[in-house]
Amino acid sequence: MAQREEVKKYWDERARKFLNNQAATTDDVHLRELEIRTIKTRLKSLDVPDESVILDVGCGDGYSTIKVAQELPNFKFVGIDYSEHMVAIANQRLMDQPDLKSRISFSIGSVLELDKVSRDLVFDVAISDRCLINLDSAEEQSLAISLIASRIKPAGYYIAIENFVEGQSNMNNARREVGLPEIPVRWHNLYFKEGDFAHYAEPYFDDIVFKDFSSSYYFATRVIYSAMCKMRGEEPDYDHEIHRLAVNLPWVGQFSPVRMVVLRRKSS
Ligand SMILES: C[S@@+](CC[C@H](N)C(=O)[O-])C[C@H]1O[C@@H](n2cnc3c(N)ncnc32)[C@H](O)[C@@H]1O
Repeated sequence: MAQREEVKKYWDERARKFLNNQAATTDDVHLRELEIRTIKTRLKSLDVPDESVILDVGCGDGYSTIKVAQELPNFKFVGIDYSEHMVAIANQRLMDQPDLKSRISFSIGSVLELDKVSRDLVFDVAISDRCLINLDSAEEQSLAISLIASRIKPAGYYIAIENFVEGQSNMNNARREVGLPEIPVRWHNLYFKEGDFAHYAEPYFDDIVFKDFSSSYYFATRVIYSAMCKMRGEEPDYDHEIHRLAVNLPWVGQFSPVRMVVLRRKSS
């Protein structure tokens, strides 16, 4: 089985296993809340029209898309994901939110075939939240960024929350200092190098700004809390209250693999 099919199977199985559970797209549900909050804040700050249409690539079970849409009542959202099981959950969630039905749609589609999705639509903003790290190769990641760019209006925005090797390495160096083992990149993920991401994006985007919104969160949970667990002979637990506390820390350092990149589409 090709790696791509195995990764898709992984997401299909997670959708089936977690159904309506908030952990369908990550066990770290507090990180997900931090991502949602960060996306909402960033979207509100962008200079885009009131009636903007937002593309959420790799929307998963729709949990984040719906949460973001609830706070941005003038925007419309188009979520796509290649896992039909994730999309089925997203549509189920939407049925429970009748007031949002006219502003959100979820459909099956791959980021590598974005040209086939809602062909007549160009978007004011595109979002990807831990989607492109699931692709098989640097070539596919570069292609995905070009396809996303092709669907964004001139001077529109792309908000990418993806994983980067530099933050992963900083986090692991800090863990090593306190006697913790390295956290490996999981089999289905291909993290970006910051320079590569910027290089793939530069032909299409003018401003490319990296934000380490989850650095403090990772430092608190993956370094300090993990070291405390080791001292006490306990297993780290995503439900431990430090996670709830750490989402409110100010953004300090570069200790997280998960970073936000805000990019502005070239005008011509
Ligand atoms: C880590 S989850 C994140 C989901 C959602 N963005 C969130 O923040 O909760 C990654 C999602 O990307 C989807 N995905 C992976 N590769 C994809 C592709 N080539 N095209 C569309 N979706 C993809 C997976 O099915 C999965 O739902």
